[in-house]
Amino acid sequence: MRVLMIGDIMGKPGRDIVSSLLPRLREERQIDLVIANGENTAGGRGLTESTAHELLDSGIDVITSGNHIWDNKEILPFLDSHLPILRPINYPVGVAGRGYLITRDVMVVNLMARTFMASLDCPFRAMDSLLSSLDPKPSIILVDFHGEATSEKVAMAWYLDGRVSALVGTHTHVATADTRVFPKGTAYVTDLGMTGPYNSVIGSDKDAVLKRFLTQIPVTLPVATGPCQFNSVLIDIDPTNGRAKSIVRVDTHPGKE
Ligand code: FE2
Repeated sequence: MRVLMIGDIMGKPGRDIVSSLLPRLREERQIDLVIANGENTAGGRGLTESTAHELLDSGIDVITSGNHIWDNKEILPFLDSHLPILRPINYPVGVAGRGYLITRDVMVVNLMARTFMASLDCPFRAMDSLLSSLDPKPSIILVDFHGEATSEKVAMAWYLDGRVSALVGTHTHVATADTRVFPKGTAYVTDLGMTGPYNSVIGSDKDAVLKRFLTQIPVTLPVATGPCQFNSVLIDIDPTNGRAKSIVRVDTHPGKE
């Protein structure tokens, strides 16, 4: 089983590079399943029904999210629909949406960290209770762990090693170079990165971000324009035991061969 996990897709530029690259990538690399974080897909803030469909039509099978999934209220009714959209599982009971789904015998889980983030339920215990509730347990389990702190993400990888096939970080929009398979078979990277405008501050217009830093007053941050980068990882998993065999980065940016 070969899975591609794509870093946070930022606005229309991000959607456009996905639709232009992904169909060929899927075919060339013989990818079975594509997962992408889509919480910044609609104008850089949240997700809408139409942008979700755009991603699904481009070849993405499951859309994960994080704290920004609530930014565009239009998506709320669709979080409980047939559309394959996830929000972090460790929100309080009763919040709209779902935190995991199973497609083609693969379970995809969306989880959120707490360090420098909202005070959600403990993500470690949320995974314990999810994994112990599964009977039978799917052999392949993939987790998008949306969080700020590197330490919390690495700690979670040790905690889940051997219990999930892959744990990948999202949210910081900066791709990390620490892809590895942990000793008991969990593939890991601290952050997938960002799919969107290259000449930007993590996807937003650099001049607007600088104005915010220089003045300390609220400034609307539009999605930047111009050439785009694409950040992802490709993970090979043994379907007989759910152990990851390899994880490699698949990235492109302007000027890269
Ligand atoms: Fe986020």
